[in-house]
Amino acid sequence: MAKAKKSWEKRLSKQTDGLAVDFVESLSYDKRLYKYDIAGSIAHARMLSEQKLITKAEFKKIEKGLSEISDEISAGRFKFDKRLEDIHMAIEEALVAKIGAAGKKLHTGRSRNDQVATDVRLWMRDEIETLRNKLTGLQKSLVEMADKYDEFVMPAYTHMQRAQPVVIAGYLLSFVECFERDYIRLGNCRDLLNVCPLGSGAIAGSTLALDRRSTAKQLGFCEVSRNSIDAVSDRDFCAEFIFDCAMIATHLSRLAEDWIIYASNEFGFVRIDDSFCTSSSMMPQKRNPDMLELIRAKTAGVYGNLVAMLTILKGLASGYNRDLQEDKIHIFSAGDTVGASLDMASAIVLHTEFNTKKIEAELGEGFLDATSLAEYLVGKKVAFREAHGIVGALVAYCEKWGKKLCELSQEEFKGYSERIEPDVYDSLGAVNVTRKYVTEGAAGFGQSQEQIAYWQKRFAER
Ligand code: ARG
Repeated sequence: MAKAKKSWEKRLSKQTDGLAVDFVESLSYDKRLYKYDIAGSIAHARMLSEQKLITKAEFKKIEKGLSEISDEISAGRFKFDKRLEDIHMAIEEALVAKIGAAGKKLHTGRSRNDQVATDVRLWMRDEIETLRNKLTGLQKSLVEMADKYDEFVMPAYTHMQRAQPVVIAGYLLSFVECFERDYIRLGNCRDLLNVCPLGSGAIAGSTLALDRRSTAKQLGFCEVSRNSIDAVSDRDFCAEFIFDCAMIATHLSRLAEDWIIYASNEFGFVRIDDSFCTSSSMMPQKRNPDMLELIRAKTAGVYGNLVAMLTILKGLASGYNRDLQEDKIHIFSAGDTVGASLDMASAIVLHTEFNTKKIEAELGEGFLDATSLAEYLVGKKVAFREAHGIVGALVAYCEKWGKKLCELSQEEFKGYSERIEPDVYDSLGAVNVTRKYVTEGAAGFGQSQEQIAYWQKRFAER
């Protein structure tokens, strides 16, 4: 094999040991940064020519060479040599091989330290856009589903016990809220990271008159970093990005958990389409929600990425340390995992139906209307604490005699409170109760419809 030409071969007397080559390389995973690396290099070279540090002609050669390399990589024609360690050196070496002397000027006033910090930020800006689009896609699917079920009631649970009736739409829209916060969080992360470290060099900047504002502007950054020592070692945005991914994964996992339960025979609330189920190699009757289980499990990996990223950062001495190379393993993995889970979740939402007949048939179970009855009594001037006690006693009575609250007679009610009148029946039964919710943001029919309209408008503007 030909010798890989590394820029420091005059400094180190020996070739890197084979074991060390494998251990130190990041090319196998950072090659996916190539577009950003090339964009950064073109901006840097243009700035060098503006500053007369290289000639216009040299810049043109560099630009042409780099764009050819870009085409070669995207067409799969580029030969990656791991002895060059990373994508930065692989591209630089290919450029020198291609255009000769001018290529050797590209790295003027630059270090891989500010280079990689720039590349990662550029990558992350795009990745955030991709994830935000996927989030919007999932939100749209949920809103579409909510629209379909805006007249159907289901039980809501607290402590996994039947609590109060809600519109199915309201339940679905609760997740749209979670994903909206994720959408905003990612936007905040992007705004905070959109600062250009290029020109910080290895740690101290440069004695050459680089125009940092030019490269920053060319690359679409809002500002240049203020402090070169911080700029080359700052990976706060990586930890933050992974946290945002972890939060998305958490929300996806909770949705998955709900639907795994809802798809069980015991609940039977939802039916996931066959095309998104698996069966059992032994039990012929099975329809398993494996996709949802995997969405739930993949969350663990993203949490792992977050803990790993934070742990990489916590022991670092000031300035760049090679530890930072491993940031990419975790940001890529978190982004990839969450991207795939978002796609899967959107597809499942589009291929799932609520079994409204079964849900409705069981709405009488579990005294979903008990709170409504207590609030009815408040309307009849009974103190809430007293009302709570009265209804508690009524529920115990019903349980004893196997009745529902709406099945009790006036006489039976009067035995517990004189204030209960014939109009009480409007406040009983899950559907009646759901009609009575008046607070803003409640899980009632009107509120859900308002929320659906709100989201449809929002998405149209997005
Ligand atoms: N591959 C390295 C990384 O990803 C590039 C920076 C290496 N810098 C250095 N001075 N060794 O962090």
